[in-house]
Amino acid sequence: MRKTRDQEEENPLLEPPSPVAAVASRRRTPTPMLILLAAFVPLVFHLLLTLPSKSTYHSLFLSLSDNATAARHLEALTLRPHLAGTPSASVASSYVISTLSSLSLPTHSSFYDVLLSYPISRSLSLSSIPFDLTQEPYPGDPFPITDVVPTFHAYAFTGTATGPAVYAGFGRAEDFAILKSMGVNVTGTVVLARYGKIYRGDIVKNAQDAGASGAVIYTDKKDYGGGEEGKCVPEGQWMPPSGVQVGSTWRGLGDPTTIGWPSVQGSCERIGKEEAVAAGLMPAIPSLPVSARDGETIQMSIGGQVAPDDWQGVDGVPVYHIGPGPGFLNLSYFGNETLATIENVFAVIEGEEEPDRYVLLGNHRDAWTFGAVDPNSGTAALLEIAQRLSRMQKRGWRPRRTIILCNWDAEEYGLIGSTEWVEEHRDMLASRAVAYLNVDSSVAGPGFYAAATPQLDELLREATKKVQDPDNTSRTLYESWIALSGSPSIGRLGGGGSDFASFVQHVGVPSVDITFGEGYPVYHSLYDDFLWMKNFGDPMFQRHIAAASVWGLIALRLADDKFLPFDYTDYASELQRSVEILEDEVLGTDLSLSPLYESIGKLKKAAIEIRRQIKAMEDQSWIPNWRTDSLKVRELNDRLMMAERAFTDPDGLFQRTWYKHLVYGPSQHDDYGSKSFPGIDDAIENAKTTNTAESWRFVQHEIWRVTRAITQASQVLNGNLI
Ligand SMILES: *[C@@H]1O[C@H](CO)[C@@H](O)[C@H](O)[C@H]1NC(C)=O
Ligand SMILES: *[C@@H]1O[C@H](CO)[C@@H](O)[C@H](O)[C@H]1NC(C)=O
Ligand SMILES: *[C@@H]1O[C@H](CO)[C@@H](O)[C@H](O)[C@H]1NC(C)=O
Ligand SMILES: *[C@@H]1O[C@H](CO)[C@@H](O)[C@H](O)[C@H]1NC(C)=O
Ligand SMILES: *[C@@H]1O[C@H](CO)[C@@H](O)[C@H](O)[C@H]1NC(C)=O
Repeated sequence: MRKTRDQEEENPLLEPPSPVAAVASRRRTPTPMLILLAAFVPLVFHLLLTLPSKSTYHSLFLSLSDNATAARHLEALTLRPHLAGTPSASVASSYVISTLSSLSLPTHSSFYDVLLSYPISRSLSLSSIPFDLTQEPYPGDPFPITDVVPTFHAYAFTGTATGPAVYAGFGRAEDFAILKSMGVNVTGTVVLARYGKIYRGDIVKNAQDAGASGAVIYTDKKDYGGGEEGKCVPEGQWMPPSGVQVGSTWRGLGDPTTIGWPSVQGSCERIGKEEAVAAGLMPAIPSLPVSARDGETIQMSIGGQVAPDDWQGVDGVPVYHIGPGPGFLNLSYFGNETLATIENVFAVIEGEEEPDRYVLLGNHRDAWTFGAVDPNSGTAALLEIAQRLSRMQKRGWRPRRTIILCNWDAEEYGLIGSTEWVEEHRDMLASRAVAYLNVDSSVAGPGFYAAATPQLDELLREATKKVQDPDNTSRTLYESWIALSGSPSIGRLGGGGSDFASFVQHVGVPSVDITFGEGYPVYHSLYDDFLWMKNFGDPMFQRHIAAASVWGLIALRLADDKFLPFDYTDYASELQRSVEILEDEVLGTDLSLSPLYESIGKLKKAAIEIRRQIKAMEDQSWIPNWRTDSLKVRELNDRLMMAERAFTDPDGLFQRTWYKHLVYGPSQHDDYGSKSFPGIDDAIENAKTTNTAESWRFVQHEIWRVTRAITQASQVLNGNLI
């Protein structure tokens, strides 16, 4: 618990708890004052109703932070592995439900039957010598490893692949292009690629497209082992030599058998998984993840030309070559894709004035193993927020709008829990969701990182100015954040890395994603456990509560502020920057970006105008005509809420129609990568390869589509038809 003297003094609520007491003390005023008050009964009534102010409660929220609670929740959640669809997963969901219920928050679940994937058997040998493919517990490891899933790639193709090994660097499209330029024919080989740059599903897809019969993906010591000097668990934070990064290779979102609609229980239309394979969304070649130790053994068996510099390992290991062979790999994988039940858990705090406006905070619960960082540091923060909100309720706070705490299942398999829920409630969310605030891992290490749709940039900055840096008591998080990168650097949410994807990319809900730490070495391995967090990730649990403070404060502002704290001038500036980046791409072509610049100009004007209207209404807000006022406030807020929706198009991206957002979407070659104007990007890439007049015309068509979407957004913000 971190509570400063300042906060206590600012916080009348810490001592006299009830708003009624505050009201009563106001009534003891001198007689002339009473007369004045009587003359302004409606105004006084209005004032009394809004006392104590929401911002007082927001300070209270910050002062209620409790690191012991966060630590306790994390420890309880991570006692055993809780992979989606397994019996121990329901132990974790019961824990979340009982915690929320004990805080008197109304709680419910939504269940879906979805296609999950588990390993039945797998083997890998190098020139007939088998690997044992097991992660070794570290000395003194107190956690039961019996329930830990054998290392595998979810949705990997069941089958056998044999062939000479070829080293393909990080498995990116450009890495395979390098192999081709060096004269290596990948057809019929087994590719060895390393983790660290792109989504693993895309590595397997690239290997498949290059003709490989299978893929082995390993963790290089240079990327996850701390280099030459790195001490691994338990002495240091780095991945032990036998550590393996498990993970999914599904390249879509949600249940592969219900692409585009929800996997509701009972009768539900389903497609076969062969359709996903045929569409290139699921692998058609087998693959396996392996450890640094096994990866290095395979590297040493590969001869041929020396690999490019940036594919090399740490100093001191022999240079890597590209092959093919002479090392000969024999990989076999047998998996079980089966319908399993998953459970999303929700707690709802109903809004007092606008219950039909939703502010959603979301985090997933399912983990590959113990999930101390990914994702339960986020779950612990979510539950710690729930405790603070519950305490605020006891002191009389009710939000203006409805706050929904969401705890997703089966995120690891492909954002399945959140995607099914968003698909099930698509139109409700499209008409009611104010914002979605995601935290996957809340803490993986030091340093604050954030991504957002740009109208939330300013709110994010403001929130970090109110929270102390957990690693430096002499400055705010904001000050440390700028120290890290010069100016607060805010990423965008076009990638598929976590549960914000459906909200942003399918429905167009303004969203935020925050975390402490940029990646961590024991990601998706046996070693992502409570002791790792306690020893290396966040020994004092101060980062957890700082994450909870920023996350919760953003939610409170969105739920309580009379005018939604959205600033679309930031959006216009961000779009302007993104178009300027496109300039290079269209250099020397007939393409014109002017329509885009014009639409951005309109958006900027509309953004400035609505800001002016808010200011004007705030200046007059003492006038006691609050009945008409509240409708006007609502109308203005609706424009702010719906403007993001206007960036979506029902037709979606060309040949990727599930993605409705025309401004933010994932790169086709790396699901983790966020692209601005993904449709234009796809079209340019296609035009560069085919180089036909028609393909270049299509780029211009995509430019026009985005232009029209931005124009629609400015119209929604303006709120008039002329
Ligand atoms: C690559 O190898 C495959 C089979 O070994 C062969 O069919 C194909 O023609 C080769 N490709 C090139 C470009 O040499
Ligand atoms: C590959 O391994 C499998 C299973 O261990 C074995 O049945 C098969 O004969 C091996 N294939 C080759 C070409 O070594
Ligand atoms: C696949 O999993 C289901 C559900 O757990 C189980 O009933 C079935 O027996 C499994 N199939 C195989 C081949 O192991
Ligand atoms: C903590 O913040 C102060 C004030 O900005 C700064 O001078 C100092 O270098 C910071 N300490 C660390 C360890 O970053
Ligand atoms: C909470 O933080 C304080 C320092 O502010 C520390 O003494 C305490 O050990 C922390 N609690 C836990 C559970 O880490």
